[in-house]
Amino acid sequence: MNDTDKLQQAFRELTPTAPRLFHAPGGVNLIGEHTDYNDGFVLPVAIDRGTTVAGAKRDDRRVRVRSLNMEETVEFDLDVPGDSQRGIWLDYVEGMARTLEARGVRLCGADLALHSDIPDGAGLSSSAALEISVGMALLTLSGARMDRVALALAGQEAEHKYVGTRCGIMDQLTVTCARAGHALLIDCRTLENIYIPLDTASTAIVVADTGIKHRLASSAYSERRAECERAVEILREPLPHIRALRDVCVADFERHQMILPEPVRSRCKHVVKENKSALLAAQALHSGDVAKMGRLMNCSHKSLRDDYEVSCAELDVMVKSAQSLPGATLGARMTGGGFGGATVNLVRRDALEGFPDAIALDYLWITNISPSIYVVEASDGAAEITDGNV
Ligand code: GLA
Repeated sequence: MNDTDKLQQAFRELTPTAPRLFHAPGGVNLIGEHTDYNDGFVLPVAIDRGTTVAGAKRDDRRVRVRSLNMEETVEFDLDVPGDSQRGIWLDYVEGMARTLEARGVRLCGADLALHSDIPDGAGLSSSAALEISVGMALLTLSGARMDRVALALAGQEAEHKYVGTRCGIMDQLTVTCARAGHALLIDCRTLENIYIPLDTASTAIVVADTGIKHRLASSAYSERRAECERAVEILREPLPHIRALRDVCVADFERHQMILPEPVRSRCKHVVKENKSALLAAQALHSGDVAKMGRLMNCSHKSLRDDYEVSCAELDVMVKSAQSLPGATLGARMTGGGFGGATVNLVRRDALEGFPDAIALDYLWITNISPSIYVVEASDGAAEITDGNV
């Protein structure tokens, strides 16, 4: 039985009504890390793994949800106020429903069954995929519409208020707006995005999950955000026009860096350079200069490791393993929030065959942990599935 059949079967255990199917992909960021909450640029792709929801409308205002991954069925009532930040998976689902209602959408009750094949805690936007797939299902079943950017913003708000993670907007926008065969250059201030075609014939994207779940991730993430805000406060003295680190160019940083205390200076250095690199990377991809794209990815890892200090020993080993295969690897870096999770690798398609095993063995040899390696395809954003296939 494939995953869609399992989902349909789980749904039939909830209700005999025929379901509609919705899918939201996970995502991986190629470059532009820790720039989204600084109003900067990011360059992610959606991947060919995601969360699928089978759903049907109910006549009342109850939402019953079966998660195949958690092997659990739970429910809540849209007319009865609920709790937030309980630390359970329902926070994402219920949070999304309540956020949509708070934004003026009247939802109907629904029966939902969910299944995800995105590894959790690997920095592959599994939370955003859950929020957006559920949000799209509830909206569609209720006969309501919302544009993709508004849906992404609702997902981010659900995560802030109901899950308690102050994430940026990258993951939710990737999941809603991505396009197959393209990376998405997102301006996280205006929320505009430009589709950059990928040369999928000659390059492949490989995600290597270290198997280390984000350690200390949420406290360190808030700390980094606060350090960036502090940098803006201090730099506003000589540069009164700036609103976020997005407004600081490399020359400005170099001119004024000495007024910043450490570690704020190093954090600022990473963000300012990374922001520029995201734009250069988009240009490089656009002009087919994959070697330059790879070099920018390698530099990004170095700066995340040394200046932003969000890498960890296992991520560094995984990156080094890939970089020690120059015939195959164009670039390798940690991706996502850091402190565990996965690396993203840009690999020559003609040398792809031995690549996953080579880095997996090297990593296993050094860390004694067996990693999961995924060759991913840049995929479309969230949608209703009308042909039965994801
Ligand atoms: C996490 C957040 C994103 C982004 C990345 C770092 O994945 O969810 O919004 O800030 O970290 O680039």
